[in-house]
Amino acid sequence: MSKPKIFLCRCEDVTVDEFTAAFREGFTELESLKRYTGVGTGFCQGKGCLCEATGELARLRELEPGDIRLTTIRPPSEPLTFSQLATLQVPDPAADPEETP
Ligand code: FES
Repeated sequence: MSKPKIFLCRCEDVTVDEFTAAFREGFTELESLKRYTGVGTGFCQGKGCLCEATGELARLRELEPGDIRLTTIRPPSEPLTFSQLATLQVPDPAADPEETP
């Protein structure tokens, strides 16, 4: 019987084994693990996995989770629908700044 897959990041289908293998290849920071494995880069932008990834990395490095440097959070901080993006109010860069309220 094969070993069951344990998913660390369900959005990007990153398993604990893949995360551990990347760590053993030398990706020892959460930011580099994110870039290499894709953990935390999916639809939820890490809401569903970065806490677990931090805990797993802390276990691998034999540190406390609070000792792990977190990844850079970039907007959007919440998932947006296409309709929200389509109706987003963006200032016109060509507009006269004196006329802008
Ligand atoms: S569960 Fe990892 S990005 Fe969503």
